[in-house]
Amino acid sequence: MGSDVGWRPQRHGGETPMRTIGILGAGQAGSTLARAAIAAGYDVVIANSRGPQTLAGLVEELGPRALAATAAEAAAAADFAVLAFPYSPGDRLPVEELAGKVVIDNNNYMLWRDGNVPEVDSGEKSIHQLRQEQLPASKIVKAFTHVQFHARSEIRVPSDALPAVIRLARPAGAADRKALVVSSDFPDAVELVTRFYDDLGFDAVDNSPLLEAWRSEPGTPMWRHHVDGQSREELIRNLQLAQRSGHQGLR
Ligand SMILES: NC(=O)c1ccc[n+]([C@@H]2O[C@H](COP(=O)([O-])OP(=O)(O)OC[C@H]3O[C@@H](n4cnc5c(N)ncnc54)[C@H](OP(=O)(O)O)[C@@H]3O)[C@@H](O)[C@H]2O)c1
Repeated sequence: MGSDVGWRPQRHGGETPMRTIGILGAGQAGSTLARAAIAAGYDVVIANSRGPQTLAGLVEELGPRALAATAAEAAAAADFAVLAFPYSPGDRLPVEELAGKVVIDNNNYMLWRDGNVPEVDSGEKSIHQLRQEQLPASKIVKAFTHVQFHARSEIRVPSDALPAVIRLARPAGAADRKALVVSSDFPDAVELVTRFYDDLGFDAVDNSPLLEAWRSEPGTPMWRHHVDGQSREELIRNLQLAQRSGHQGLR
């Protein structure tokens, strides 16, 4: 991780309470984020939709800082949580266990995968506001939506053998450090994610509130840099270049 600059991500703040992350979703995004967070010194309780018995191989690979659990157990154990699976109006979520907690939503609205969501297509709401409505007592924060979590073919694109969230990590102040966006209606959630990004090797750009999150939806100028990343200045400029198109999800 950041090995070309001899640096490992690290969790700041010593024994602060925000050390256990409940990650709901153990696919490409959830498992890679778990790997990056553990390397930075966080503990992870990870869940999928089928149950912890299906995650034995993953937690063995992640090591002693990882536990597999049900979604409700992961939510209950979490100091803060990540939802790493697509939004669906019928999602059954551990609403009570996530109440009062910061919940990172890394979902991208993808028409080809999710179908049409009329409120998002019309610009009335962002997909993350709909997630907020599903979890009314939680603090939803959009983050990690525009950084690549999957490794691409080593043969086709040799430089992409590592996911961008690991490959692009750099220490604070590095000339080539990249930035990621964060949007929320809750300033303490923005603060938490800013610290988390920093621990993982990225600067943060605040694009709050959630209603503004369309500026970082799939297809926008900033989102196109999910593989190569962008500096803080480039990210701010790219957010400003975003144009509303009626629907933001990629077809
Ligand atoms: N892949 C990327 O590079 C990337 C980058 C940025 C953002 N994202 C976003 O990240 C999210 C996940 O993408 P992905 O590529 O990781 O998808 P994925 O590989 O299909 O993984 C989805 C995971 O979510 C789990 N899941 C589904 N519903 C759940 C529920 N209600 N509770 C707990 N776990 C649940 C699935 O479990 P089961 O397998 O047991 O059903 C699976 O482990 C998407 O919203 C995507 O837009 C992905």
